[in-house]
Amino acid sequence: MKALVLAGGIGTRLRPISHTIAKQLVPVGGRPVLHHCLASIARAGVREVGIIVGDHAKAIAGSVGDGSGFGLEVTYLHQPEPLGLAHAVVVARSFLGDDDFVMYLGDNVLADGIDELAAGFRRDRPDAAIVVSHVADPTQYGVAELDGAGRPVHVVEKSPTPPSNLALVGVYFFTPLVHAAVRAIKPSTRGEWEITDAIEWLLTTGRDVRAYEYNGHWTDTGNVADLLACNHALLDLQQGAVDGKVDTESELIGRVVVREGASVSRSRVIGPVVVGTGSTVTDSYLGPYTAIGDDCRIDRAGIDSSVVLDGARLSGVRHLTSCLIGRGARVEAGPSTRLVVGDDAVIRVER
Ligand code: DAU
Repeated sequence: MKALVLAGGIGTRLRPISHTIAKQLVPVGGRPVLHHCLASIARAGVREVGIIVGDHAKAIAGSVGDGSGFGLEVTYLHQPEPLGLAHAVVVARSFLGDDDFVMYLGDNVLADGIDELAAGFRRDRPDAAIVVSHVADPTQYGVAELDGAGRPVHVVEKSPTPPSNLALVGVYFFTPLVHAAVRAIKPSTRGEWEITDAIEWLLTTGRDVRAYEYNGHWTDTGNVADLLACNHALLDLQQGAVDGKVDTESELIGRVVVREGASVSRSRVIGPVVVGTGSTVTDSYLGPYTAIGDDCRIDRAGIDSSVVLDGARLSGVRHLTSCLIGRGARVEAGPSTRLVVGDDAVIRVER
């Protein structure tokens, strides 16, 4: 079995962060989203991975390389325009050949892995398998309708009147039959070649499509609230490890990771927290579920439940909570409020 990872697309719901960084490279739980995805593919025993890339191709290749760091062999497949998930399968046709494959959306995190799902597909070898999970608001997702025996009868994409609350998780298992399906469909009203339409085609032509329910922790990290929730879930799974320096005036409580070259001085850190390589934390408070990237400077600041990207600086600001702070951004105290706010940014100031 091969894997096809989709790391193209635009990332509108993660603006302004996604103006300058691929949404699949935003870190959650201290590592880029895409790295979690590749690690879970490797754990499921797949070696050959094609990664669909668009405008952020160079940054993605820079972060993943040839895949050997994950025990994978990676081939990059350029999608000239993000024309849809089924279009990505067309782009990958020659890479995929006549092999079965798992298609994995590069902005999805399945914290409990895909090993059991992959084992189920290898064992049953249906024509295709979708993965479903119960959600509160199914209008944001592809949705499956199952019959009494748990077999899918219909799948629809982001319907205002979804037939169930079973969302399609961004992991799909296909046999080569999917290539006929993606050629048979037309673009949807939103102009995308939908993978849901290809799956619906398999269903209406009488193919054996199964639905596997995912009971682990799943997030589509495509928006800020879900990304922070995913960071929370992943940090909950981590063990503490101090490879950097922590002075005697600091207090570390719970599971705290201080990576090599990082230092914590005169600060209080309540885990789970990650402090990235080369970052310094001085006279500050880091509260639970905070992931600080590499080479950040946190000075006389207080922050919790947040993700801070590489090279950011926080200085003299307290009570920051549920923040996503971009690379090289500076949040600092001054005599008056002065904001230099990027396009599409969201700022909420304490009342
Ligand atoms: O997260 C699960 C949902 O993912 C499913 O429930 C939906 O059925 C499915 O369509 C998808 O919906 P999204 O709106 O979240 O898809 P998005 O446009 O965010 O794309 C998912 C990933 O695929 C993301 O990493 C970007 C990448 N992509 C997307 C398109 C449209 C590509 O590589 N090429 C593309 O053409």
